[in-house]
Amino acid sequence: MVLRLNLQHRLIVKAFDDKLILAPVNLKPGDRVLESGAGSGIWVLEFWKEHSQKNIPLVIECIDISRDQFPSQVPSDIHFSLRSILDVPPEWSNNFTFVHQRLLVAALPRPLWHEALAQIFRVLKPGGWVEFVESHAKVRKFVVGPNSKKLSLISDRMFEEKNFVGDTEVYLPPVMREMGFVDVRCEGKDVPISQTIDDGLDRVQIWYDLWKGFKGSILAGGGYGIVSSEEEYESLLLGCKDEWNNSTEAYTTYWTIIARKPEIP
Ligand SMILES: C[S@@+](CC[C@H](N)C(=O)[O-])C[C@H]1O[C@@H](n2cnc3c(N)ncnc32)[C@H](O)[C@@H]1O
Repeated sequence: MVLRLNLQHRLIVKAFDDKLILAPVNLKPGDRVLESGAGSGIWVLEFWKEHSQKNIPLVIECIDISRDQFPSQVPSDIHFSLRSILDVPPEWSNNFTFVHQRLLVAALPRPLWHEALAQIFRVLKPGGWVEFVESHAKVRKFVVGPNSKKLSLISDRMFEEKNFVGDTEVYLPPVMREMGFVDVRCEGKDVPISQTIDDGLDRVQIWYDLWKGFKGSILAGGGYGIVSSEEEYESLLLGCKDEWNNSTEAYTTYWTIIARKPEIP
């Protein structure tokens, strides 16, 4: 899991021109940053290091509802804690200059996005920025054959049943504006799944492993009328792997959504 998250991190950062963030936030020494759903901490460690090298030491709070992926050793200015973005403490209000949250699309059903946004708005300092990075899950550009078509049906049904937001770039901006965020902007990048780029990142394998990670949820959902056992799901995934390896047309899309809390909310 940690390895997959770290490879996916490389892919996403590369897709966005090697930038760790797109928000035009001007961080100063001592500024506080909140990383929601920190996972393995790969993003936060690189972000902190990039700023330390520019003599901008940051204090970063990393929260996650699971400790499983937390790194074992971190600089003393980075604090990891077991906490949900839906439950941030009152003393964090108006406290952070920047909030970052990536790849929680399959963790936050629609109503919880509203709750998470309200919490983030509360903890941001006036003038502070939030940045979300999410995988698009509505128009499936990874469908290049019968197996990947079936996988897309499973995914559509799972997203519908769990009330996940497949198109955060469409859904979130109006909600955010209504909540008081300003300067809401989105930028999307199509990332090829097939091995068209020789950079050592096995994109097909990363994508395959991601879907393997959904196996438990998909089987718990009864295979969504498409597969009826673990073996069938695994064989479907191997079929997808073949299709992706043999096509240059398979893509996935990542979206970055940025917004600012106004100076006078
Ligand atoms: C797909 S991982 C992404 C990890 C990391 N953001 C990255 O991009 O590498 C999603 C993470 O969000 C965490 N998560 C899920 N629901 C959460 C919540 N309500 N609050 C905070 N973290 C949450 C999960 O435990 C998991 O570590």
